[in-house]
Amino acid sequence: MKLYEKLEEIKKEAKEHIQLVKNLHSLNEAKSKYLGKKGSFSEIMKLMRDLPNDERPKFGQMTNEAKQTILAYIEEQREDIEKALVNEQLMNETVDVTMPGKDFVVGNSHLLTQIQEEIEDLFIGMGYQVMEGPEIEIDEYNFEKLNLPKDHPARDMQDTFYITEDTLLRTHTSPVQVRTMLDNVDKGPVKIICPGKVYRRDDDDATHSHQFMQIEALVVDTDTSMSDLKGTLLALAKKLFGEKREIRLRPSYFPFTEPSVEVDISCHNCNGKGCNICKGTGWIEILGAGMVNDNVLEASGYDSKKYQGFALGMGVERIAMLKYGINDIRAFYTNDIRFNKQFK
Ligand code: DAH
Repeated sequence: MKLYEKLEEIKKEAKEHIQLVKNLHSLNEAKSKYLGKKGSFSEIMKLMRDLPNDERPKFGQMTNEAKQTILAYIEEQREDIEKALVNEQLMNETVDVTMPGKDFVVGNSHLLTQIQEEIEDLFIGMGYQVMEGPEIEIDEYNFEKLNLPKDHPARDMQDTFYITEDTLLRTHTSPVQVRTMLDNVDKGPVKIICPGKVYRRDDDDATHSHQFMQIEALVVDTDTSMSDLKGTLLALAKKLFGEKREIRLRPSYFPFTEPSVEVDISCHNCNGKGCNICKGTGWIEILGAGMVNDNVLEASGYDSKKYQGFALGMGVERIAMLKYGINDIRAFYTNDIRFNKQFK
């Protein structure tokens, strides 16, 4: 019964072969090898003619069954291969949630910006508006209308970068006071702060910079007094240097204020006992302030009999240096990322 044996042999060979196939391409090749037109069965069909007539239907049925069996092997293998493919893909795409995350480099704003924003927050909370003015300013606003006429000796204190005879790089933020008061056409109350860059012809060293930052505050109203100024200064000192701070006002002189004061805070380092930061005095000078000089009010169109005002101006670098013990002002402008990164 050679033919029956042959059938068994094909089935056996197909099974072994198909189980070893590992990819879909080879599986399709195996399929045509066994079941295709020119496949293993075409020979058997030819030999079938030699069988006696009565055996043919039975053999034919066996052949069909053998084909079905081989087809089943193929489909089974196909499922296995596809499953393996999916598993492999899943493995490749697996996210290991236990892996340490990537460290993104996140920048931070410059320390001067941070201090500026801190001060802005305080004043905005007290109802002030933040105003800005140009860094290229006219002499009239930077000096003249601030009660500093051309021959005024106090001009020497602010050695100026002149661009022309009448234009200059502003030496302080005080001209924004003038601009704001002039712009205020109905001459009503004013409550502003003006942060910004200012310039002076200084030789750069540890404590001088030809460019630095100031923040100015100006309040003009019909019932403004020195005690309003003092309360504001105390709030500012506490905000910047801690709740325990006290302030002390010393008489001073600025052309744009009368009376004028220098403002000291009790030393935040030694709480007033005396240390090297406050040079043993327990007090640190942080800013200048005063009641707006009548001449300044009048020069910007305000009736000084009806209105009074107070103003203050501080250097942002100085505050940052005191607050963080920075001893070289140039550190703010050399853009060393190691310096900047310390103040996140
Ligand atoms: N403009 C002054 C300066 O640059 C600082 C200043 C002092 C501003 C007293 C003021 C003030 O508004 O009242 O040195």
